[in-house]
Amino acid sequence: MTNLGRLYPLLDDVQLPDTIPYSQVSTWELRFLYLLGRHHLTGRDRIVELGSGGGGSTYALALGLKESPVFDERTGKLHAYDFFRVGKGTFASEKFFTAGTKPEDGNSFLDDFRRHLEPFLPFLEIHAGDLWQTSDPHDTSPVEFLHIDIAKTARVFRCVTERFLTRLRPGSVVLHQDFAGPRLPWLHHSTGALLPYIEIAGPPIRSTLAFEVVRPIPEEVLRTIAQDAYTVDEKLDLISAVQDRLDRDHTGGIPFTSVLEFAKAYVAHYAGDHKRAWALAKPLTGDAYLSRTRADHFTQLRTAYEQDRERHGGGSKLGKLVKKAVGR
Ligand SMILES: C[S@@+](CC[C@H](N)C(=O)[O-])C[C@H]1O[C@@H](n2cnc3c(N)ncnc32)[C@H](O)[C@@H]1O
Repeated sequence: MTNLGRLYPLLDDVQLPDTIPYSQVSTWELRFLYLLGRHHLTGRDRIVELGSGGGGSTYALALGLKESPVFDERTGKLHAYDFFRVGKGTFASEKFFTAGTKPEDGNSFLDDFRRHLEPFLPFLEIHAGDLWQTSDPHDTSPVEFLHIDIAKTARVFRCVTERFLTRLRPGSVVLHQDFAGPRLPWLHHSTGALLPYIEIAGPPIRSTLAFEVVRPIPEEVLRTIAQDAYTVDEKLDLISAVQDRLDRDHTGGIPFTSVLEFAKAYVAHYAGDHKRAWALAKPLTGDAYLSRTRADHFTQLRTAYEQDRERHGGGSKLGKLVKKAVGR
């Protein structure tokens, strides 16, 4: 059993209070956050949450830390990063407001967050705003725990890599939220690149992948991830390496082999190779889980492929000849 694997048998018995704020993270994932705080983390190095939203995940983690026999509230800190406001490009939901909708006179849910997290404020450090602005590029202090629920774009993932993954040390723990999201393939191929230096805790818990760093991660590897310098083929191989390690999630509901295959299609899609993207995605249309949960993704990739084919004269030799003959 892995070091973090010892937390899995405890998952069933965690009872979280009703006072926990609305969260986009599932109950299983909240329980795991609680267990990490309660039984694993020490607070000797930075404990960091990227993407706290309305505070559901923050609450679960903070409660675990508060009940931990080793975490010292006077010296340990939980750092919470988020826009703490709704608006275009934030990926924040109006549900993060206590009322469930945005008030007339503002777009910030920071006060709601503070109210909900009141019992933990003494050891909570809040960093409100765009991560690129609120994180310090010169901070090299080691990070003991990194909860990543913010990397919804490649641009933000670059910030996460440059300013936080570089601060991981052997013993550091990382949780990737949305690991079951095929549209975020940077989570998957970066994990593939880190495989020689990490130990995956066990099956993902719903959409969360947890791992522990077991060897120092070479700077070169982190630089290649941050600069997005892997080729498409390299990224696909890296995802295949993760596929070899994962099957269904802990609850049995999510087939990660198929999810990761779909993530490969998105690697090709983002690289502009829509033909290859659809060639990778099409065989997955028969997957019961993906067709039920990701129908919009299939539509997106098929449409991009068809439009691309249209633009390039139908893709067939005949189409290209016709295009040439009519001069467009
Ligand atoms: C999926 S939500 C977090 C959900 C939360 N962990 C929970 O328990 O409900 C993602 C969060 O990332 C934040 N976010 C995304 N990009 C960001 C950025 N560049 N800087 C700061 N926050 C960002 C959004 O404001 C949003 O609240």
